[in-house]
Amino acid sequence: MTIPNHLESFLPAMSSIAREAGALLLPYFHHGLKIEYKGDADLVTAADRASEVLIRQRLTQQFPSHDVLGEEQGLNDLGGEYRWYVDPLDGTTNFAHGYPVFAVSMAVEHRPSQKRVAGVVYDPTRDELFAAEFGKGAQLNGKAIHVSKVSQLKECLLATGFPSQKRHKNPNIHFYHQITLHTHGVRRPGSAALDLCNVACGRFDGFWEFNLNPWDTAAGALIVEEAGGKVSRFDGSPFELNSQETLASNGVVHEALVREFREIFAGRGIEPMADPRRHEG
Ligand code: 2AM
Ligand code: CA
Repeated sequence: MTIPNHLESFLPAMSSIAREAGALLLPYFHHGLKIEYKGDADLVTAADRASEVLIRQRLTQQFPSHDVLGEEQGLNDLGGEYRWYVDPLDGTTNFAHGYPVFAVSMAVEHRPSQKRVAGVVYDPTRDELFAAEFGKGAQLNGKAIHVSKVSQLKECLLATGFPSQKRHKNPNIHFYHQITLHTHGVRRPGSAALDLCNVACGRFDGFWEFNLNPWDTAAGALIVEEAGGKVSRFDGSPFELNSQETLASNGVVHEALVREFREIFAGRGIEPMADPRRHEG
């Protein structure tokens, strides 16, 4: 099924809502707030909630028939033709600790064709708005952006993330270790939506993470693809919002990354981790 060509551009409305939500987050960020827990180390703050309330109000006013799936309030399923994926604050742990790496992420999907038609990620601390429309390219603050052209894995700068819950049950430390040894390095910034956008604009050459949720990736994955990059599962098969595996890259090094993942999953060529007891200062 194709997307109807009468499709209105959602970008102006969603950009303005994301900017408004980002502006709402800043005073909470600068003045500090009370941290609450959803799980052992899974934080939520009044800012996450207030941002989602604002975004839902705006979406309901402007698109009353659309479904909204937001991290804090779940799915409002009206059986609509369009569904919004909203992370009102991506990077909550950073936010709660005063580390300025967080964003508002919003994407809209045309349900019958299962295509995400537009996405925005807004970083209010840098005033950076990343945006993309399906088939129309990606922009940062209105200027076209493109993925990097780096073709050698050993020259790549990558990013990854670790979940805040059950960190010990997540195998990512092995991937972090191996891939760090084979590249310029792996950053761990703490906002998956921004990590994807940083691939889209060429600051990172790739990004991966286990177990992300649809609201973390819906906008960022479209922005990477529209900037000329590739997003897949770890074995290179097509990415879906419920994949639980997100591997994004400039496209050029994608196969090399898939190969790395295959080797690590198979337990081949794993470098031993240094023994901390033998550390010499
Ligand atoms: P959040 O800040 O909206 O929770 C950290 O690298 C990334 O993973 C962030 O985008 C963070 O989103 C998300 N994240 C944090 N905890 C998670 C969990 N338990 N499961 C899945 N994603 C998580
Ligand atoms: Ca969030």
